[in-house]
Amino acid sequence: MFTFLKALGKEIGSSRFEEDKVDLAKELLEKANEKGVEIVLPVDAIIAQKLEAGVEKKVVKIDDGIENGWMGLDIGPESIELFKDELNGAKTVVWNGPMGVFEIEDFATGTKEVAMMVADITEEGATTIIGGGDSAAAIELFGLERKVSHVSTGGGASLEFLEGKELPGIASIASKKKINSRKYILAGNWKMNKTNIEAAEFISKLTANIGKEKKFEVVIAPTFLALEKAVDLTTSTNIKVSAQNMYFEDSGAYTGEISADMLKAIGVEYVILGHSERRNIFGETDEIINKKIKKALEKGLTPIFCIGEKLEEREKDLTFNVIERQIKEGFNGLDKDEAKKMIIAYEPVWAIGTGKVATPEQAEEVHAYIRKLLSEIYDEETAESITILYGGSVKPNNYFGLFTKPNIDGGLVGGASLKESFIELADIMRDIIM
Ligand code: PGA
Repeated sequence: MFTFLKALGKEIGSSRFEEDKVDLAKELLEKANEKGVEIVLPVDAIIAQKLEAGVEKKVVKIDDGIENGWMGLDIGPESIELFKDELNGAKTVVWNGPMGVFEIEDFATGTKEVAMMVADITEEGATTIIGGGDSAAAIELFGLERKVSHVSTGGGASLEFLEGKELPGIASIASKKKINSRKYILAGNWKMNKTNIEAAEFISKLTANIGKEKKFEVVIAPTFLALEKAVDLTTSTNIKVSAQNMYFEDSGAYTGEISADMLKAIGVEYVILGHSERRNIFGETDEIINKKIKKALEKGLTPIFCIGEKLEEREKDLTFNVIERQIKEGFNGLDKDEAKKMIIAYEPVWAIGTGKVATPEQAEEVHAYIRKLLSEIYDEETAESITILYGGSVKPNNYFGLFTKPNIDGGLVGGASLKESFIELADIMRDIIM
């Protein structure tokens, strides 16, 4: 407070003040004046020559000035009454900094009286926030910490928060996700990787580390050859198994293909359909993918339906057009109940296997668009219930930002699902979900 009094040109004797903040105090006083904001400063002080218990002390009016050799160590009785009057009837109080050297009883009266008043108005319904190590210690010393709304040892931090700045700790709490109506999923698309033995070894590692996951679903998609083994090794765990593809016919002369029944028969629950590698390397069209989706649903498999634009499409500003076409064709002929069984994976083709991940904002924009589209095709409730995963260069170092976005319900992970990093991704999700 003496910094402000100094800025006002008062004689403050040997009182402690912050010399480098006098100009700032002047500026604040001027601004307050311009804006008609009242700043109430103490009108009297308890002064002494030494900061010690039992020394001689005097009360002086600030306007009379404090002589050299004396310093202000507490506010005076008139200031106490003035502050109490100001506090009376206040609805919100942010208190940052004690009134005096409350650690020494001789100079604790001002702080104690104000603290008691703050407790009183809290009881009457005011919201009272005590910020800063000293103020928090004072409130505790007077046994009032349970009688105010909130006490934080962060002083500067709580003021910065009020200024509207982002505090990392608060931001990370604020970005927690609630368990909601739709499932969160971490899915690993192994593509053409791992022999049976390698798959079994890795699955054992996964079951030991994340086999009991409850907050979200873990899905692994090994090659067809390792599916049966994968189902066996995960039966008593919470890890589910997915195929990477299937054909839409039930059986017959389709050399090299696998049917939905075959997958069901060995206990597979999910199937990835329409992956961009299937579309672009193996020529799968929206129509073929739609047939596969219908067959999978008919047989009780959950499709993980992949969509996403190519780089040239994004560059031509066609992202939303491509997404709209893929969603409309993929969901073609599905009723609301069938739609609710779908999992969508938005995988921008330019981000798959390239190390070039979409920014959380880019991904969220498309996810929100997909959800809006679904609510137009079906209704909001259906759209809200469908899990939408992000895929494309997901790694432990970029996953937090993605998964904390409201419309991103998990990841479909390629490269990073083949090693320990998959466990790290699960750890990240577990920390984010409340
Ligand atoms: P990536 O693959 O994580 O290696 O980019 C993702 C995917 O193709 O599903």
